Amino acid sequence: MNYNIAVVKGDGIGPEVVTEAIKVLDKVGEKYGHQFNYNYVLAGGCAIDEAGECLPAETIEICKASDAVLLGAVGGPKWDHVPGDQRPERALLGLRKELGLFANLRPAVVFDELADASPLKPEIIDGGLDIVVVRELTGGIYFGEKGFVEETPLGPAAYDVEQYAEEEVRRIARVAFDMAMKRDKKVTSVDKANVLESSRLWRRVVTEVAAEYPEVALDHMYVDNAAMQLVRNPKQFDVIVTSNIFGDILSDEASQITGSIGMLPSASLATGNFGMYEPVHGSAPDIAGQNLANPIATILSVGMMLRYTLGLGKEADAIDAAVDKFLKAGYRTPDIAAGRDAIGTVECGDKIAAFI
Ligand code: IPM
Ligand code: MG
Repeated sequence: MNYNIAVVKGDGIGPEVVTEAIKVLDKVGEKYGHQFNYNYVLAGGCAIDEAGECLPAETIEICKASDAVLLGAVGGPKWDHVPGDQRPERALLGLRKELGLFANLRPAVVFDELADASPLKPEIIDGGLDIVVVRELTGGIYFGEKGFVEETPLGPAAYDVEQYAEEEVRRIARVAFDMAMKRDKKVTSVDKANVLESSRLWRRVVTEVAAEYPEVALDHMYVDNAAMQLVRNPKQFDVIVTSNIFGDILSDEASQITGSIGMLPSASLATGNFGMYEPVHGSAPDIAGQNLANPIATILSVGMMLRYTLGLGKEADAIDAAVDKFLKAGYRTPDIAAGRDAIGTVECGDKIAAFI
């Protein structure tokens, strides 16, 4: 089969990690008889530099016409002076909205070989950790009405509105319950229903959807408690489903407790099979261009692309297995080396491709 992938290399370490992921994907293509065609498009800081805007219309068109999107990372200090509505990060929000990517899956797993990288005590993560945060990605306060009020008794003010429609909650809840059915059949819905009206609607709709999944256990948790429980007893979680802003925050927390953010992939899915795939980590400008970045998160993101968008489960398994072999063989990039000798970004890609 022939597949068309739109590729946003992006900024910072983005181009380096994407290059290695493509190396691995091409090896998969060779071995299993698929042809992957790459359409390179601009978004983020490099798009500001080359095209004068963070998300050119052409990028959106090409992404829409492709089977899936692979993205490295966007942003960096170079564009800190750019006005808010044109910052590189806006490109991400724009892509999510334009492509209808309402469901963001962010797994947080502790890899056996890297268990001591977690900042949590061994007894807290003993036996492994495997959580997936299902974050609503195109609604809530990040996309609500926003603005300024020139005059208030306390001086000029600004506001951002948190609003959720029932259907927005229903569809993300279904993604979470479907995911739980393939895992440990447990969903924790995180909200702030003791304070927020939008959270009370969220909680009611999630509870309604739960009735369609009698095998899945649902509990509700306030976001402040969830932030605490994630470090107190993270093993209680299987699937966490939450709003855009809470998911943004909790997924960073969850990734950090694994101790290996350089290893974590993510998928952002639309209705149907279309999706955008990117590492959880950012553009890490401090190590860009030095062959120091860990490409594994992006390589595993390509694995998610094979599994969720292209329906190539066996090929996705091959990527996961190759990463596993790489770690078992003792290879490490600097971020996960913990005192051992480390290899570079390019060598990491070479080794994992060789293990396919
Ligand atoms: C993320 C990032 C983005 C977000 C930023 C860069 C807009 O933090 O993907 O989690 O807030 O969604
Ligand atoms: Mg974030």
